Amino acid sequence: MVCEDDVAQWNERYGIHGQVVFSYDDHGFVVVSVNNAWASARLALQGAQLLHWAPVGHQPVIWLSDKASYVLGKSVRGGAPICWPWFGPHGARTELPAHGFARTALWNPQEAVSLPDGSTRLTFQLPPQLMPTELWPYDSSLTMEITVGVSLEVVLVTENRENRPITVGQALHTYFRVGDVRRVRILGLEGCSYIDKVLQGERQLQVGQVDFVQETDRIYLGSTREIVIDDPVMQRRIRLAKTGSASTVVWNPWTEKAAKMGDFGPDGYLRMVCVENANAADDQLVLAAQASHHLAVRYSVEPWAP
Ligand code: BG6
Repeated sequence: MVCEDDVAQWNERYGIHGQVVFSYDDHGFVVVSVNNAWASARLALQGAQLLHWAPVGHQPVIWLSDKASYVLGKSVRGGAPICWPWFGPHGARTELPAHGFARTALWNPQEAVSLPDGSTRLTFQLPPQLMPTELWPYDSSLTMEITVGVSLEVVLVTENRENRPITVGQALHTYFRVGDVRRVRILGLEGCSYIDKVLQGERQLQVGQVDFVQETDRIYLGSTREIVIDDPVMQRRIRLAKTGSASTVVWNPWTEKAAKMGDFGPDGYLRMVCVENANAADDQLVLAAQASHHLAVRYSVEPWAP
């Protein structure tokens, strides 16, 4: 548990007056707020989880559930949790937490820099001593760099310090705020094959754009192109350009599943869609001995045009 002194210390070491400020939020979580000429953003130290991002002059881009619960050690519903070092259920041990342990650990800030163009770059590290050796017996390191500028750039760096390869599943599990998911279209996945988790893992081929008419839970494989979230209700398009990610996960729980999950609120599912830049399932990363890997995504927003 972090105490008051830590917040003061984080501010002393990494705070930038008026631009990078550490504080407690209303739920007692330690958060870092970024404000600059380009945008505002907020991240929790738990999971280095982005909770808010709004470019100046735009509505918030990230969805955070009104009914999210804030308990240390439990993932907060919404924002951009980091799934690592496995995606979804653990391959061999189903009792282990879904999506790995990075999203519920307390990360450490490592650097905060104000860049010449007015953007702000923060770096966080998952402390190696918080990687439970019984779940992850590998010498490795995970850092996340986020740059809040004209766009939002997130880079997840995995380092394998072993003298043998390691296998990593990972995702930037970003929840996007949308006007009405029933009107949203996802572009950029045309022609990709996908694993349909709603259909017990059946393999399908994506023909045309992705629309939402029911629960959707898919891992698109070999998906490396730019993705566009087309939202005519909010009159905007969100672009996701990536490198180092071979899969894209698209998820919306729809009515029944959202109600069962309990932290969505009555119509929360209508206002969100998850588009996750990942290396999952067949596309898990096999990281060679002493190698490192960068999963990088640039998010940007533009006005909608027919
Ligand atoms: C998605 C998965 O990435 O995350 C879904 O594809 C899962 O199957 C969803 O339900 C939410 O997971 P969690 O663990 O945050 O409830």
